[in-house]
Amino acid sequence: MDTFVIQGGKRLYGRVRVNGSKNAALPIMAAALLTDQPVTLRDVPDLADIANMRKLLAELGCQRVNELAPDSPGYVHGLVTLHVQDQSNSHARYEIVRTMRASICALGPLVAKRGYARISMPGGCAIGDRPVDLHLRGLEALGAEITLTSGDIIAKAPTGGLKGTTIFLGGPFGSTVLGTANVMSAACLAKGTTVIESAACEPEIVDLANLLIQMGAKIKGAGSPRITIEGVAQLGGADHRIMPDRIEAGTFMCAAAITNGDITLDNCPLDSLLAVTDRLSAAGVNTQVMPALTTAISTGGPRASALSLAGSASAGDEGTARCSVRVTCDRIIKPVEVTTQVHPGFPTDVQAQLMALLCLADGNSVITERIFPERFLHVAELSRMGAKLFRQGPTVIISGVRQLVGAPVMASDLRASAGLVLAGMAAEGTTIVNRVYHLDRGYEKMEDRLRALGASIERVNEKDAG
Ligand code: EPU
Repeated sequence: MDTFVIQGGKRLYGRVRVNGSKNAALPIMAAALLTDQPVTLRDVPDLADIANMRKLLAELGCQRVNELAPDSPGYVHGLVTLHVQDQSNSHARYEIVRTMRASICALGPLVAKRGYARISMPGGCAIGDRPVDLHLRGLEALGAEITLTSGDIIAKAPTGGLKGTTIFLGGPFGSTVLGTANVMSAACLAKGTTVIESAACEPEIVDLANLLIQMGAKIKGAGSPRITIEGVAQLGGADHRIMPDRIEAGTFMCAAAITNGDITLDNCPLDSLLAVTDRLSAAGVNTQVMPALTTAISTGGPRASALSLAGSASAGDEGTARCSVRVTCDRIIKPVEVTTQVHPGFPTDVQAQLMALLCLADGNSVITERIFPERFLHVAELSRMGAKLFRQGPTVIISGVRQLVGAPVMASDLRASAGLVLAGMAAEGTTIVNRVYHLDRGYEKMEDRLRALGASIERVNEKDAG
C-alpha cells in the first residue's frame, strides 16, 4: 500500500490544469451501453474508478476500441472510445461493484436498452449508508419490475419496453445525482414523455444530458429540478469532451489557500464553483479569472493581467465553464460558516478540504454536513495534527490554531484523504498519509502535480515509510 510523505511549510506557486471530471465521466461511460454505435470521450481522467468502470463495461460487452499505447504516435491522453459489441451479459458482479459504487450507473442504461439488468446491490461506504432506493423507485415508475435476489438487484422492463411518466425523485437528503443519471438515461429510450421532478441539478447531470442529446436523446431542463425527456426509439454514437472536475479544482483552490500560495488553475469550471469561491472569498481567498495561458505569460505575470470576475465575458469562448483562475490568499484566514447542500450549494465533496483550511483560521468556523451527515472521518485525523475540532452530530466547530503539526494519519475516503494531504502541506514537520489508494480513486497523479507547484510530497511504499 502506498503512502505520501509530506514535508509541510512550502508555498504552492505556478499553474496546474484541472483534469476531466471523474463524477461526470462515470455515468457518461455507462451511457455508452445505450447504443450500438461507438461513443468517443475526451478528457477522461486516468483513475482507479475509471479503470473499474472500463472493466465493468467490458464484462457487459462494451469494449474500449481503437486503443493506442501511451508511447505510440497519435496517442491522446484521456481519449476513450467505447463500443458495445455483445449484449449477452447484463450482470454487474459483486466483485466489481464492491470496488466501485458507481457501477450502479449501468442499471438504467441496461434495463432501458436490453430490457434486463442484474447489478449487485452496492453496500455502504466510509461516508455513510448510501442507499439506492430512489434509483429503484424511479426505474419502477418507468415500468421496470425490480426484485432482489442474493444481494443482486434484478430489473426487468415490461414487454414493449419502459414507459415515460412523471417521477418525483427527491429523498430525505434532497435530490440524488446518480439516481437522476440512471432515470434520465433510461427515460431516453422509454416510450412517451418522462418528467423528473426534484432532479439533481449538479453540473455532471448537465454534462451527461449534453452527451445523451448528442446521441439523439430529447432532453430539456437538465441543470434544473425538472427534467423532461421525450423517449426516442434508438440512440446513436457521439464524440464528447468531459467537463473539468469541479471538485479537483476546489481542492487545488484550498491547497493554494492553506499554503498561502499563488496558483493558476487552467481548464477550471468556475461557473460550477460559485458556492466554493463564495466561502473561500469570505475566508480571505481571492479568485480571479485570467486570460488564456499564453497571454498571461506574455504580460509578465499573473497579477498584471488579471481580469475581475465581473469581466468574465472575456475569459474565452466558453465563458467561465472552462477558464483560467488565479488563486491567492490573504495572510490571515477568516473563520466562516458553511453548510453542504445539493448544487448550486456548497458541495459535500469539498467539505474535508475546506475544513483543513479552516483549522488555521483566526477564530471559530462551523461546518454542517447536510448530504452525508457521517462524512467526518477526517475529523479525528486532523485532531491528531493539532486541530481543535468539536463535532456534534452533523456539525463540526473548528477553533482555528496558529499551526498544525505533522503526524502519521490514516486516509479513509477519497475527499478525507485530500483534506489530510492539504493539512500535511501546511503543517510543521513531516506528515505521513497512509492508504492513499483512496486518493488515487479521484485524483490523477496528485503528488506529481503538487510537487510541480512546489510541495514537498513523495509517494512511498508503506513498508519503506516506517
Ligand atoms: N440517497 C438516498 N437514496 C438514494 C440515493 C441517495 O437516500 O437512492 C441519499 C444519500 O444517502 C445521500 C444523498 O441522497 O444522503 C445524496 O446522494 P447522491 O445519490 O446524490 O450521491 P451519489 O450520486 O451516490 C454522487 C457522487 C459523490 C457525491 C454525491 C453528492 C459520483 C460517482 N459520486 O454520489 O461523490 O458526494 O453525488 O454530491 O458521482 C466523491 O467523488 O468523493 C463522491 C463521494
